[in-house]
Amino acid sequence: MRILSGIQPTGELHIGNYLGAIKQWVELQKAKSLDKETGCIFMVVDLHSLTVAYDPKQMQKRILDVVLDYLAAGIDPKQNTIFIQSQIKEHAELAWLLQTVTPMGELERMTQYKDKSGENKDNINAGLFAYPVLMAADILLYKTTIVPVGDDQAQHVELTREIARKFNNKFGQTFPEPKTQLRKIGARIMSLADPLQKMSKSIAQGCIFLNDSEEKIREKIKTAVTDSGKEVKFDETNKPAISNLLTIYHLFSEKSIEKIEKEYEGKGYGDFKSGLADVVVEKLKEFQEKRKEFEKNPELVKEILAQGAKKAQKIATETMDEVKTKMGLI
Ligand code: ADP
Ligand code: TRP
Repeated sequence: MRILSGIQPTGELHIGNYLGAIKQWVELQKAKSLDKETGCIFMVVDLHSLTVAYDPKQMQKRILDVVLDYLAAGIDPKQNTIFIQSQIKEHAELAWLLQTVTPMGELERMTQYKDKSGENKDNINAGLFAYPVLMAADILLYKTTIVPVGDDQAQHVELTREIARKFNNKFGQTFPEPKTQLRKIGARIMSLADPLQKMSKSIAQGCIFLNDSEEKIREKIKTAVTDSGKEVKFDETNKPAISNLLTIYHLFSEKSIEKIEKEYEGKGYGDFKSGLADVVVEKLKEFQEKRKEFEKNPELVKEILAQGAKKAQKIATETMDEVKTKMGLI
């Protein structure tokens, strides 16, 4: 079993990234049948983030910020492999080779491409279009079997399976077909400002960032949109806003949704929101304190990334040798 995932350094991480993706990584790193030397592989996918507008002066900090977030969230660098995608050249190399077996029509169907090219009309670059192939290369380079992500990435993993299948058919069995691992609850945390929209870095309103101050968190929860009625009940069709807040409460507190509903029976949304704020503030405080410790120790972070890159490089080199030979290159 090989588990791999990554996040782009496109801005501050939010609780959607944490609950949908990173929290499951923290749980998965304890899985028994992982390769002992490598553990889970978690990357900062900086090459992906170049496909939308960014400030090169900010990039290095953004990359390191994501690494600090991983560490503070509880990813253990001793057991796992944490590295920066652009430091392993084979990602871009394999992406090129895989482009030659990827149908254009499949890339045109990708909803993230349609959304992003709609939002960035003045910068629809070829990288944005080929983005899922680079993601497939990230995954297949390490012969990954499980990809824990939020549900917006499921379509990309599905395409990765197809690319693996096409490659294997053409050049002989090489890659396993990876599976998406989604949370049963929390694979899509919605915006606090609009429960019908995914919480996303690009829409700061309605987004709780992992490094928000206590006041900000309380304010954002206090002003979160609610549904009509006053009962705290999980009902995604009729109460999408309250259901989203219940999901967040459940994942941060580890209490079951039924238990939370019982706790707030006969009480209004106000009490519920204030309880939710307490839970989120407490958890994020822990996270922020841990993050500060790592922040004070840039040498340690550098060492973690160097070790991670070394472990990743070994596997990447082996896979590329195999792929190039199978494709008939010298
Ligand atoms: P964003 O959409 O905020 O830019 P990314 O695309 O960088 O976030 O996503 C990083 C990881 O976090 C991916 O695994 C993605 O599926 C997950 N993720 C992002 N937003 C959410 C959300 N609102 N709920 C659950 N998971 C999410
Ligand atoms: N495309 C993913 C996102 O936008 C990030 C990503 C790139 C990724 N390569 C990956 C996720 C490999 C999992 C595995 O969130």
